[in-house]
Amino acid sequence: DWTMATFRDEAIASIRAQVGEGRVICGLSGGVDSTVTAVLLAEAIGDRLTCIFVDHGLLRQNEAADVEAMFAGRNDVIFNKVDAADLFLEALDGVSDPEAKRKTIGRLFVEVFEKEARRVNGDFLAQGTLYPDVIESVSATGGPSVTIKSHHNVGGLPERMGLKLVEPLRLLFKDEVRALGRELGLSELLVGRHPFPGPGLAIRHPGPVTREGLDVLRKADAIYIEEIRAAGLYNAIWQAFAVLLPVQTVGVMGDARTYERVLALRAVTSTDGMTADIYPFDINFLGRVAARIVNEVRGVNRVVYDVTSKPPGTIEWE
Ligand code: XMP
Repeated sequence: DWTMATFRDEAIASIRAQVGEGRVICGLSGGVDSTVTAVLLAEAIGDRLTCIFVDHGLLRQNEAADVEAMFAGRNDVIFNKVDAADLFLEALDGVSDPEAKRKTIGRLFVEVFEKEARRVNGDFLAQGTLYPDVIESVSATGGPSVTIKSHHNVGGLPERMGLKLVEPLRLLFKDEVRALGRELGLSELLVGRHPFPGPGLAIRHPGPVTREGLDVLRKADAIYIEEIRAAGLYNAIWQAFAVLLPVQTVGVMGDARTYERVLALRAVTSTDGMTADIYPFDINFLGRVAARIVNEVRGVNRVVYDVTSKPPGTIEWE
């Protein structure tokens, strides 16, 4: 795609012009946006880029290891991982209100990230801000708006630390970021990844988050995604994920009664996440996924499918 090749070259040139001989800090989440931002910066300024990856213990199965592996293979960038799972899970202990969860995670994230960033001699902070985020924040200041969910970002950190922002994706939509990622040589598996929210699995685990619940959720989610990929449906879906409900129901396995939790499956199509339709799976597909999850994941004995569009539902449950 010549357009993306041109965009890449221009973006690299403009990063070099903006940054000069300066140093850049970039936060990694494992998602497509921050990864493409980091790789673009690596191409532009090499080892004057330091990536910081805060593992808050709320990532999906293998996600932290995948992020690490991707950057371990590049010796042109400095990669710092902070293992902060204990800190986050202790702070979330007993917290069930969705906004309280989001605020706790957001506050801790900024604290951990800032502490780590202060050890790096940075002049700039790179962010994977996309065009829809730019329009959303402009329209939010232009008139009254309702905050449905507090979003996760680095807050006032750039001002506090005197860092200037580098936002090389600010004119792009999600599908263009994916095309740019391909242009930069990133794997299809990575650029095609479904979006994942900053607060992670905490908002897919209604009620207080527990380590045991997160383990159950990770296993069930991995089976669901594996089946979606095997059926060749992954790229037709905007987001698919499991939600572990704080509700137990009665079931039967072999000749024994079970009393375990309910797992909800969600899958939607969308172009920007602002509105969404449910993905119309074949009911036999859902039955297969449910059977696998109940058989393979201890702690779940019933699976339901969320058939609510956005609006009135939101994509995430919290
Ligand atoms: P909702 O649940 O509001 O989600 O319909 C719309 C899209 O935004 C994602 N999402 C987030 N992404 N930080 C993020 O980076 C967040 O705090 C956050 N909350 C929701 C969600 O996964 C969906 O793609």
